[in-house]
Amino acid sequence: MADKQPIGIFDSGYGGLTVFRSIAKQLPDFDYIYLGDNARAPYGNRSFNTIHQYTWEGVQILFDLGCPLVILACNTASAKALRTIQQRDLQQLDPSKRVLGVIRPTAEVIGNYTKSKEIGVLGTRGTVQSGSYLMEINNFFPDVKVYQQAAPLWVPLIENAEYDQPGADYFVKKYLDQVLAQSDKIDTLLLACTHYPLLKAKIEAYLPDHIKVVPQGDIVSSSLVDYLQRHPEMTSRLSKGKSKHFLTTSDDTMDFDHHASLFYGEPVLSEYVPLK
Ligand code: DGL
Repeated sequence: MADKQPIGIFDSGYGGLTVFRSIAKQLPDFDYIYLGDNARAPYGNRSFNTIHQYTWEGVQILFDLGCPLVILACNTASAKALRTIQQRDLQQLDPSKRVLGVIRPTAEVIGNYTKSKEIGVLGTRGTVQSGSYLMEINNFFPDVKVYQQAAPLWVPLIENAEYDQPGADYFVKKYLDQVLAQSDKIDTLLLACTHYPLLKAKIEAYLPDHIKVVPQGDIVSSSLVDYLQRHPEMTSRLSKGKSKHFLTTSDDTMDFDHHASLFYGEPVLSEYVPLK
């Protein structure tokens, strides 16, 4: 990989693969390295400092492998670690590298999906507690009301491949009831966690037809297309060899490959990368 300058994509585990899938479809020519920190997932209920430390370690693994640009395909990491990485860590390590998140690109467009001007945001506890979506959506769409709901058991259900099993229904309905109880005008539900698209079918089954469920993959990939057009100095550093490498911090790569293919939609063959 020495001569390659791939785009790095990071998530706590499998969720970022739902974003990577859209990115690889929209930008098929580039080289990519996906890193899932499965050994330490989920991040959703962890402290600010821990999420920052884990995310920064993951980003540095991708930098060491030659990526000049890393996408945090994880809302929890974007909410809790991105600002410190952008404003402090990168300045100290290498200001020419870039790390981008998923919250801002989503907030930039989500207001266009709602007619009633009321949106429900479902995410991990970390994402909801950070208040990032409230602030960012308010910046771009001050007339849109945002209601948040943490769904702390959805990621464990998904990571354990229980998302399409009957047992998942109870928790799907529970958090949907909680968010919809906050206002009867909500017509758009943002899946503000990159794991949640795997629950989309179950979520939609519990919703009336007029409520739209919005996953982030296509939003984030369109935003990356736009970023690369606006930043030729970064785009010219990226290699175009159409390669994709999947790395996991879990030593059980066979387990990763099995789960990851469900998120990615194609067979995945991963390599183990040990944490320092
Ligand atoms: N996929 C991550 C997100 O978008 C959350 C998973 C986790 O809790 O680690 O927030």
